[in-house]
Amino acid sequence: MKSISGIAILGIGSLLVAGICVAAGNGSPAGPPFWAYGVPPGPPPTPAAAAAPDTSVKHLPGNSLEFTRAQISNGFGPADWYPGDHPTMPDVVAHGKMPDVRACSLCHYPNGKGRAENAGVAGLPKDYFIQQLMDFRNGDRKSAEPRKGNTEVMIKIAKGMTPEEMNAAAEYFGAMKWTPWIKVVESKTAPKTRVQNGLFLKLEGEETEPLGQRIIEVPLNAEATEVLRDPHSGFTAYAPVGSLKKGEALAKTKQCAVCHGPDLRGIGPVPGIAGRSPSYLMRQMYDMQQGARKGVWSGLMKPVVANLTEDDLMVLAAYAAAQTP
Ligand code: HEC
Ligand code: HEC
Repeated sequence: MKSISGIAILGIGSLLVAGICVAAGNGSPAGPPFWAYGVPPGPPPTPAAAAAPDTSVKHLPGNSLEFTRAQISNGFGPADWYPGDHPTMPDVVAHGKMPDVRACSLCHYPNGKGRAENAGVAGLPKDYFIQQLMDFRNGDRKSAEPRKGNTEVMIKIAKGMTPEEMNAAAEYFGAMKWTPWIKVVESKTAPKTRVQNGLFLKLEGEETEPLGQRIIEVPLNAEATEVLRDPHSGFTAYAPVGSLKKGEALAKTKQCAVCHGPDLRGIGPVPGIAGRSPSYLMRQMYDMQQGARKGVWSGLMKPVVANLTEDDLMVLAAYAAAQTP
């Protein structure tokens, strides 16, 4: 009898858990939301047979510089398409340091705009920037999705940096303003996409699919972002209809602006979140909720996100991303 009621209770328990997961995950299996992390469920895809490397010289419209693909994605000195749009890069930003510190400009771009699968780092307060590197280094900032490989790379990078290099990178990126880079559009549908290295890329053609309760953030031009790493070609984020209003109301209740500053543009050492990548913002809130990001300052955010559902976090991410930085 005892064991039977035990089974019955277990049964109800797992039903409840299943119900909660479906509600929170909007039908997706439990776990970090795929749309924000870009790591497909299941085993990693088998890499396609290596094609002959593309050694052709690449150009950007209206730009006289030229680079090959190997130069564009050189981890220790990637292409700098627009040397005039940023101050002189410190060596660690432009070239990194062998073997583990890859050049910041590879992923975050020379102008610090970054991409949906990493982070925008321009305009971050210097103290905050350095604290994040220390948190990565000390094991206090990981991804709630352990298979998100580029966060692991970021951790290795932070571990390999000297205090002088951290300081130089923080000053460099902190000196540039964060300016509009992602356009948030409310929509019932999103373009059909494929995922490559954590980035959602529009398929050829104009096919769309229902958006549901997700944000889908795609480069304006898949080729410009994925192949050419053009730091002037930004992103569009499709967010559910009504999400901005809901996000605005929740941001008021939760008093985000008390810490993140008027219009969420940052204040003192607390970073601005206005106009930043909604996929990135979602990952951070989710990571903090799950305890994967538990840095020295994360305690201030923990109670803010503690009781929010995945939908709540999603509308907050949409709202913050849609604000003018
Ligand atoms: C291989 C790509 C890659 C390179 C190279 C790289 N980063 Fe990162 N960086 C990331 C990723 C990925 C994240 C975190 C994204 C996540 O977890 O959602 C990140 C996050 C950060 C953040 C946190 C931003 C925030 O708002 O909290 C800082 C600061 C940072 N990187 C600094 C650097 C510096 C400095 C360098 C160069 C020494 C560098 N990164 C090189 C991929 C990279
Ligand atoms: C009590 C102060 C406080 C409040 C209120 C607060 N935040 Fe934060 N927030 C912080 C601090 C401090 C950090 C840096 C955490 C760290 O270093 O790990 C942060 C970090 C973040 C980040 C990550 C930024 C990045 O660049 O990685 C996001 C996203 C965020 N907050 C969103 C929000 C939203 C949305 C709200 C309102 C729902 C909110 N915060 C309310 C203090 C606060």
